[in-house]
Amino acid sequence: MPLKRPHEDGRGSRDVELNPVFSREPVTVPRYALPEGEMGADVAYQLVHDELMLDGNARLNLATFVSTWAEPQAQRLMTECADKNMIDKDEYPQTAELETRCVHMLARLWHAEDPREAVGCSTTGSSEAAMLGGLALKRRWQHRRRAEGRPADRPNLVMGVNVQVCWEKFADYFEVEPRYVPMEGNRYHLSPETAVALCDENTIGVVAVLGSTFDGSYEPVAAIAAALDDLRDRTGIDVPIHVDGASGAMIAPFLDQELEWDFRIPRVASINTSGHKYGLVMPGVGWALWRDTDALPGDLVFHVNYLGGDMPTFALNFSRPGAQVIAQYYNFLRLGFDGYRRVQQTCRDVAVRLAAQIAKLDEFELVTDGSEIPVFAFKVRAGIEGFSVFDVSAALRERGWLVPAYTFPANRADLAVLRIVVRNGFSHDLADLLLEDLTRLLPRLRKQSRPHRDADDAGGFAHGAGTKEPQRSGRH
Ligand SMILES: Cc1ncc(COP(=O)(O)O)c(C=O)c1O
Repeated sequence: MPLKRPHEDGRGSRDVELNPVFSREPVTVPRYALPEGEMGADVAYQLVHDELMLDGNARLNLATFVSTWAEPQAQRLMTECADKNMIDKDEYPQTAELETRCVHMLARLWHAEDPREAVGCSTTGSSEAAMLGGLALKRRWQHRRRAEGRPADRPNLVMGVNVQVCWEKFADYFEVEPRYVPMEGNRYHLSPETAVALCDENTIGVVAVLGSTFDGSYEPVAAIAAALDDLRDRTGIDVPIHVDGASGAMIAPFLDQELEWDFRIPRVASINTSGHKYGLVMPGVGWALWRDTDALPGDLVFHVNYLGGDMPTFALNFSRPGAQVIAQYYNFLRLGFDGYRRVQQTCRDVAVRLAAQIAKLDEFELVTDGSEIPVFAFKVRAGIEGFSVFDVSAALRERGWLVPAYTFPANRADLAVLRIVVRNGFSHDLADLLLEDLTRLLPRLRKQSRPHRDADDAGGFAHGAGTKEPQRSGRH
């Protein structure tokens, strides 16, 4: 939704001009109004294509977690399915079947006790999946409270202040009080004690993030679950966990098999991931899974016609392309467990090596080292007064690298970092080129007597590492 008003960029009154040598009439078209008549398809194509040249290069975008590369075969399947609407289960039963297969594959990957009992669906991304996960927690809590004859009008959700902005939206849109555990010192995410301290009888759930957007770290899901077990034993308050595995739920199963974070933990009721992040599909697909039908209240599920039968659906929207779900199934078939493991291991190797090289530079210090999700954050070393992370981000942009800089939330708002997301396609070679560019720009930055840029100049491309303050940059 374009919330910007047309006059805000100062160009609202000026038409878009086409070069008269290369185009037929019309040579100008209105910028913000529907043109009066038609134009040739080639002219329209060229006009749109040229305008898009100013976009950044997606492969050099180290801010996004979202896939910027796909095999030609995946792209071909996506084009073949561009006209299929995911909701038309009856018309496209095979697309529906492939979605179901993906859900079952994920249920096995995430160790559902009985994968045939697990329920789940595709979504547009982790944000929609988070809304569905949150709604299920809320509805379950309401049912329980009403059955007990107790008030069900003041639900709250406990999470670290580091959660991605989608959880802030969930709380806002669905009227649940968000209880954010603040950062403290070098603790940049949720801990068992701090989570439990905010829980009470109105807590619908705790969100544990596997792969924090701020620094790529895993939250200690098993320890949080154990602390909540203890809370239940002491007080009777029984709080389920939703794991936001937007990135990590497609990394940990392949690289950290011993780590218990998923349905192996009975308290984990639901998990989301972004198929379009380390699921390796281009945007937008996500997945939401519940450990069993008890975890997903039946009254949230709607029913559509499917081959003359009944197909349950749980979604915020209705129509949505089938292409991404097909591409997810293609990736699962194409790579299998070992293919995913190799892709993710390569990303982690690149991240850890690049982080270690950056740590060797006098100017920087690591906040995380890329050894959990292949994402790491680093800051300007204490004592360096002449430039800021925002200067470094701007200077890297001169060479096309998009590396976001942002400040941490309350309690650690003094901490400003750069963050690099290593994705499939960001090779050791590209990492070396980035390091060379970073090293080359440092002598120039060293000559500055004071920083030239601060958080207000940074733009909003921290990919949801928000500040929990409306209207601040970084909040999408
Ligand atoms: C931890 C976490 N949760 C949720 C999201 C939102 O995901 P999506 O962009 O798939 O909606 C992100 C995106 O970066 C994330 O990092």
